[in-house]
Formats: sequence, C-alpha cells, structure tokens
Amino acid sequence: MKHAGWLLLLIGCAGGEPVETDTDPVVDTDTDVPLQPVWRDGVQAMFAVRCAPCHTGYDFGGVQVNTRGDLVDVPSSTGMAYITPGSLEDSYVWHKIEDTHHEVGGDGERMPLDTAPLDADETALLSDWILAGAPLQ
Ligand code: HEC
Repeated sequence: MKHAGWLLLLIGCAGGEPVETDTDPVVDTDTDVPLQPVWRDGVQAMFAVRCAPCHTGYDFGGVQVNTRGDLVDVPSSTGMAYITPGSLEDSYVWHKIEDTHHEVGGDGERMPLDTAPLDADETALLSDWILAGAPLQ
C-alpha cells in the first residue's frame, strides 16, 4: 500500500481535458479572453510563446521581439522594416511568417523556425494588429 499515493496522483494527472493548443483560439491564459490586436497583452503575449525563446536578444537573425520598439519601423536585413504599421506588404516579419520572404529579397527560413507555423488565429492576430497601425495598447 505504500505506493497508493503515487497511483492516485497519476490517475489525477491523466484525468484532465486534452490540451489542443493547435486549434484553440489565442487566449490570455490568465483570463481566457481572446488576445486583442494590440501589442501589450496581444501580439507580445503570442510572440513571448512562439518567438521569444530564440529572439530574446540578438543572437538569431539580429532581431529581438521583446518590445514594440524592437520591430516597428526598424530595418531588417533586407532594409524593409520588421513591422510597417498599416502594411502587411511592407512588414518583413509578416513575410517571414507567410514564407514569402524570398520574394522580397530576404533569405533564411519561415518563422517560427523548427516548429509549427502560426495557426489561423495567431496569424489573424498579427495581421489585424499590423493593419490597425500596430497600436501599443
Ligand atoms: C527556434 C528558434 C527560432 C524561433 C522559435 C523563431 N525564430 Fe526567427 N530566426 C531564427 C533564426 C536562427 C534566424 C536567422 C536565420 C533565418 O532568417 O532563417 C531568424 C530570423 C528571423 C527574422 C529575420 C531577421 C532579418 O533581419 O533577416 C525574423 C523577422 C524573425 N526571425 C522573426 C521571428 C518571429 C516573428 C518568430 C515567432 C513567430 C520567430 N522568428 C521564431 C530563429 C528562430
């Protein structure tokens, strides 16, 4: 009987709802509210999960994604700004997400590297934010 506690713990862990992060809307995990197309508590929260593991600091691609000021109107390796408020076509981050960066003079891989592409909700969050003028909040 000395293992009964561990057994109960294992059963308890197995009983939760399956987490399907690929299909769930992008939500703020604190509140379960869908993320808004703003930087704070919106795109930043999504980037913190999907991009920041590699882009907190300038080690990869020379770009970090910690603040809005790291991206908006800041030139990428191609000269195109990472984010141009109001224009997907002129936002290099958008091209790296959509895998169209080679068409605009860029190189390297689709982002996020070595993991699933942004899903429909994450992509919509990013495009809505850029087209709304990349507001801070
Ligand atoms: C596993 C690590 C990793 C993840 C996760 C990742 N990146 Fe990258 N990123 C890289 C590397 C390495 C490069 C440089 C090579 C290349 O461009 O493919 C790069 C390059 C870039 C560039 C090009 C910079 C330039 O000026 O040419 C952008 C923009 C970018 N990443 C944005 C993002 C965004 C936005 C996300 C999240 C949605 C993301 N990355 C997720 C590793 C990563």
